[in-house]
Amino acid sequence: MPKDKRKRKTFAAKADKYDLYQQSVQEPECEVEFFDKAFEEQFGRTALLLREDFCGTAAVCCEWVKSQKDRRAIGVDLDPEPIDWCRNHTFSKLKSEQQDRITFILDDVRKQLDEKAEIISAQNFSFFLFTTRDELRGYFESARDNLADEGLLVLDMMGGSEVFLDDHSDVTEKDDFTYEWEQATFDPITHHCKFHIHFKFPDGSKLKKAFTYEWRLWTLPEVCELLREAGYSEVHVYWEGVDDDGEGDGVFTRATCGTADPAWVAYVIAVNAG
Ligand SMILES: C[S@@+](CC[C@H](N)C(=O)[O-])C[C@H]1O[C@@H](n2cnc3c(N)ncnc32)[C@H](O)[C@@H]1O
Repeated sequence: MPKDKRKRKTFAAKADKYDLYQQSVQEPECEVEFFDKAFEEQFGRTALLLREDFCGTAAVCCEWVKSQKDRRAIGVDLDPEPIDWCRNHTFSKLKSEQQDRITFILDDVRKQLDEKAEIISAQNFSFFLFTTRDELRGYFESARDNLADEGLLVLDMMGGSEVFLDDHSDVTEKDDFTYEWEQATFDPITHHCKFHIHFKFPDGSKLKKAFTYEWRLWTLPEVCELLREAGYSEVHVYWEGVDDDGEGDGVFTRATCGTADPAWVAYVIAVNAG
């Protein structure tokens, strides 16, 4: 076959969706930095055992064991695919003694484990997949049972008027692809919503609906109330500061009132004090 007739694979066909996801969505160093700050503020010391619920590609587990030699991490996810991806990518780049300090559990996050973690993290809004108060309170209760006597559940949340829209997209240009976060549907009566992640490439090819999430968009007061109902002794919201241009500066501090930003991300921590 002449060279020019040979069918070239498009960028989309060659793309690795988990790699693109990590480049677009995740900042594990920032997560670990925040966990350290929140735990230190609450208990005046550093934590050693992290459990990453809904771990997916377990980027936070890998970062956690890199951050200190005596730290261990447990990653929990139902889906073997992202965990296998982690084993072949992020995990395989760790030193073997770091790998030895990570355990993967292929199971439901509500599973009770023998080991109680000092921090349980549930990042990238994953708990939004629990769509009723009973289901969400049930998850918060089981997480509390999985926490050590001095333990923190760390959640992230998003909100703001832009989130209560449908047919709305945020597009970010990366070096060699475009990342699109599409809010496809939002129902104001149930707060049920559907999001897609799409990737686009310089050759015009696309990876449409690389990831789809069907969630309930919980609000901060609902989540804080449910955490208290689930028995946590304290619940704190960490709100992001702003730089001189009014953009988020990545620094989250405890707050009891926020500003009505049209699109915000915040952390919520819930304390188990034994
Ligand atoms: C939005 S992804 C988040 C991945 C990762 N935490 C992150 O920050 O990017 C949600 C993950 O939760 C997992 N998942 C959904 N329901 C689960 C459950 N009940 N127990 C454990 N994992 C679950 C899915 O397999 C998926 O990997």
